Amino acid sequence: MATRLVYFEGEAVPALRLAEAAGLEASLIKRHDFPDQELMLTLAPPLDGALPATLVVYRSLDRPNEKLVELLLVARHARRLGVKRLVLVAPYLAYMRQDAAFHPGEIVSQPLIGGFIDELYDALITVDPHLHRISRLEEVMPRIKALTLSGAPRLADLIRMERSNPILMGPDAESSQWIEMAAAATGFEHGVCQKVRHGDTRVEIALPDLDLCGRQVVLMDDIASSGHTLARAIEAVLAAGADSVDVAVTHALFAGDAMELIRQAGVNEVWSTDCIAHPSNAVAMAPTLGKALDEVLQGG
Ligand code: R5P
Repeated sequence: MATRLVYFEGEAVPALRLAEAAGLEASLIKRHDFPDQELMLTLAPPLDGALPATLVVYRSLDRPNEKLVELLLVARHARRLGVKRLVLVAPYLAYMRQDAAFHPGEIVSQPLIGGFIDELYDALITVDPHLHRISRLEEVMPRIKALTLSGAPRLADLIRMERSNPILMGPDAESSQWIEMAAAATGFEHGVCQKVRHGDTRVEIALPDLDLCGRQVVLMDDIASSGHTLARAIEAVLAAGADSVDVAVTHALFAGDAMELIRQAGVNEVWSTDCIAHPSNAVAMAPTLGKALDEVLQGG
């Protein structure tokens, strides 16, 4: 049987886009949740008997805890049935932000979750993993081939279609990598704010020295989680006289009331990639993921 891609309910649209871009057949894995919260996964025909030598698993790891169990079940089952190569496409890779212990006793999850994937899969394709204190995923996944892509070029294409002469703005120093990528692709003016975080939801933002009066500003970041980073940046940009402020993010986590916070801060449009399924999705990552998947599959 030829290489196949498997995906879960709720991710059919981006998974099937990727399957089409990569020229692969795709099958749904059904999940049943028992009353006690254990999971049962079922592979649909033709995968209910035999599996191909190479299996591609599409699972974005937002709201990750149960999905990590799914990854374990699929990988161990596939190995038992003789699958030789397991490729994980996880457009959002969870637990990468917890990379240091700040208080005694804290368990640092980044290398542990990285190690979990490293043991189960042979290759990983992901998008803008949030790495602070390490620069490459290989440092936490030494065995497998890990391909890191970025959503910034696709978001830059969208911004170019939607706005004629915006200022691209990053809310913190870490966002400069995406801002520079997007500025290089579009030629738009750009700047990066300074951020001080005092807790999960307490953030202070200082704007760069740019004249924002009457300008359209697009804030770009890798992740919107609680929404407080973006909300403070939106307020600061509008207070500095900007005409409008839009948001473009790779990973639309938007936990809890994040969207509401951002709306109240005065955002105009919110655009995201489909790395995480969300109503703000405006950019499909399938063309970028498809090329990377071809590279991995042809790499043998
Ligand atoms: C942090 O460095 C990231 O790039 C994001 O700015 C951050 O994770 C956003 O988090 P939140 O939405 O909770 O402020």
